[in-house]
Amino acid sequence: MDSRNANARNILIVHGPNLNLLGTREPEIYGGVTLQDINRNLSGLTENTSAKLDFFQSNAESALIERVQQAMSDGTDFIIINPAAYTHSSIALRDALAAVKIPFIEVHLSNIYSRESFRQHSYFSDLAIGVISGLGAKGYELALEYALASH
Ligand code: DQA
Repeated sequence: MDSRNANARNILIVHGPNLNLLGTREPEIYGGVTLQDINRNLSGLTENTSAKLDFFQSNAESALIERVQQAMSDGTDFIIINPAAYTHSSIALRDALAAVKIPFIEVHLSNIYSRESFRQHSYFSDLAIGVISGLGAKGYELALEYALASH
C-alpha cells in the first residue's frame, strides 16, 4: 500500500453478528476466509504505515452500539463496518453512527442486492461515504485503501 497517504490514522473495523463464523458459515455465499484471515490481511496492509487499526466483532447489537459510541472519544478517524444482519434491521446502530459523525464505509462480502428482498434495504447506506458489496474479502481491502487516502 502507498505509505505516502498513510499519516497517523486510527481506523476502527467493526464486524457484526455471525461474521465470527466466516470460513465455515455458508462458504458458497461468503467464501472460505475466516475473520482472522481478513483482519490479519488488513493489518499486513498497514504494516509500513503509521495507521492504527482496531478490530471489533460482536453478535450483540448493544455491544456494537457501545463500541461505535466509544469511537467518539478514542481518536477514531474512520470506521469500516459490516453490520451483517443488523444492516437490515438496526435503526439503533444507524443512529449511533449518525451520532458520532465519523465517516464510514459499509462493506458486505456478498452482493446484498442480488439476494433475498429483505437484504436489499440497508439502514446505513445513505449515511455511508460509500458501500462495497459483493467483492468478498477484497471489499475490506478497498475500503481500507480509501480510508488511508482520505485525509
Ligand atoms: C452480509 C450480508 C447480510 O445480509 C448478512 O446478514 C450477513 C453478511 C455480507 O457481508 O454479505 O451476515 O453483511
